[in-house]
Amino acid sequence: MSEKIHKPSHGSNNSLGIKSLLGTEFLEKKQIDQVLKYSFLFKELLDAGKPIPQTLAQKTVILLFFEPSTRTRSSFELAAKRLGGNTLVLTKEGSSAEKGETLVDTAKTVEAMQPDVLVLRHPSAGSPFHLNQILDIPVVNAGDGFHEHPTQALLDLMTLQQFKGKIAGLKVLIVGDIAHSRVARSNIYALKKMGAEVSVCGPPTLLPPKVEQMGVEVYYELDQAVKNKDVIMTLRIQFERLNPGQSPSRGEYSKFYGISESVLKSAKSDVLIMHPGPVNRGVEISPEVADGSRSVILNQVGNGVIVRMAVLHLLTGGELPEGLV
Ligand code: CP
Repeated sequence: MSEKIHKPSHGSNNSLGIKSLLGTEFLEKKQIDQVLKYSFLFKELLDAGKPIPQTLAQKTVILLFFEPSTRTRSSFELAAKRLGGNTLVLTKEGSSAEKGETLVDTAKTVEAMQPDVLVLRHPSAGSPFHLNQILDIPVVNAGDGFHEHPTQALLDLMTLQQFKGKIAGLKVLIVGDIAHSRVARSNIYALKKMGAEVSVCGPPTLLPPKVEQMGVEVYYELDQAVKNKDVIMTLRIQFERLNPGQSPSRGEYSKFYGISESVLKSAKSDVLIMHPGPVNRGVEISPEVADGSRSVILNQVGNGVIVRMAVLHLLTGGELPEGLV
């Protein structure tokens, strides 16, 4: 038999023009614009309490989460369900991965059950790229090691558009553990494609070598870095990915790189404070700033569901009723 069975055909025959969402490095501005357009469209429907088109009805989204997650995993699940889809969540714990099954075998096994999309979070950088090559269904990267987290960057762009009314021309500072941050990498690619000016600030041991080659300005002194910025995006230190001695102590880090009310005295009065979560309160950000009036951390979380609705809708080739688009 020449034809493989249990292989649904899904190509890039959707309006986004890509089969899978693997990273913002590979997105064009017009594709980011398309995701944002659908995100705001879904937001408008949700805010108005209008019915959401069930474009994922009869479709199944498999969530393969081999690293912990609260926001990304639950928002993909909610996104799929709001669009009328089914979801199945598999974590490393409790699945046959614990018995030694490889990621490829697990992915092929779940694809044989004929889902329509696979969402993957995995500690190995590049794992979604590998699965994209061997699977016919779209793969969405929900965070691969310290490589990329594209839907986080897209929801951050949506939040900037919502609160600043634009992205092009914004001066965005990313503070913290840039070296181990997939959020920083995806945001740098995406923000620059959208015309923002991006700077980074952190201890030298937590900045990637030659980071300026990504087209960002580099600071080591936080009070200098925050001046004239429209947005400060602070990051969790990825303690689980650090080698011993690579990071200052929590106290030291907080003293030199923590975003506090005192640091914000050097910043613009309308600076927007963002954090992808989860937050190490009192380390990279003080509770007063995290919960303060300039913080949009929970708005980012809310927008995460909406952006993931747009991504799932677009990748599965869903069509909205005439008049909505
Ligand atoms: N921002 C983010 O990816 O959070 P989770 O790890 O909770 O999904």
